[in-house]
Amino acid sequence: MKILGIMGSPRLKSNTDLLLDEALRGARSLGAEVEKIIVDKLDITPCREYYGCLKDGNCVIRDDMDDIYPRLVAADGIIVASPIFFYGLSAQLKALVDRSQALWARRYVLKNLPVSVRKGAFIAVGATRGQQLFDGSILTIKYFFKAFAVEYADQLLVRGVDARGEIKQHPAELSQAFELGKRLVGKIP
Ligand SMILES: Cc1cc2nc3c(=O)[nH]c(=O)nc-3n(C[C@H](O)[C@H](O)[C@H](O)COP(=O)(O)O)c2cc1C
Repeated sequence: MKILGIMGSPRLKSNTDLLLDEALRGARSLGAEVEKIIVDKLDITPCREYYGCLKDGNCVIRDDMDDIYPRLVAADGIIVASPIFFYGLSAQLKALVDRSQALWARRYVLKNLPVSVRKGAFIAVGATRGQQLFDGSILTIKYFFKAFAVEYADQLLVRGVDARGEIKQHPAELSQAFELGKRLVGKIP
């Protein structure tokens, strides 16, 4: 079983990254093969609405998304992790999400995306504590997943964590991330 982790923070070894590492460690503890993509290290152009994807399901832009599309399609489970930036995802991660329009075109326009439904989970961390802190990002990730037949199956939303690596002082949340990784594996047939 392949679990793909998508790390959306520009800060390496910080809150988002450490939570995702724990989730992937949890998945690996049950025998999953895990892979982590660090979005900030990739060259991903934002969607330009050329709509070449409507013709054959492929984006006309040549960049690191070329390697990401097959990984999104091949994974049995996906864990996306992001810091909250202005009540949304990081811009780096949002670019990847928007470029998945090519998969949306394969699934809903060309109808040639194999639709064995897979499972996905979302981890998000923000500094403040507002009730609606995660609402926008959850919707974005739900519809990102839906574009390529991944069911939004689990989430871990962490409030009140701001400084670099501050999550290390929150062992309960780190262990919740580990458990999320295990749960996700358990949900995949
Ligand atoms: C550009 C920017 C925008 C942010 N916007 C929000 C926000 O809207 N709400 C919030 O609670 N925290 C916000 N934060 C704080 C981050 O979500 C917080 O520091 C988080 O722990 C960063 O995680 P990381 O260290 O994994 O990148 C923002 C931080 C930055 C740099």
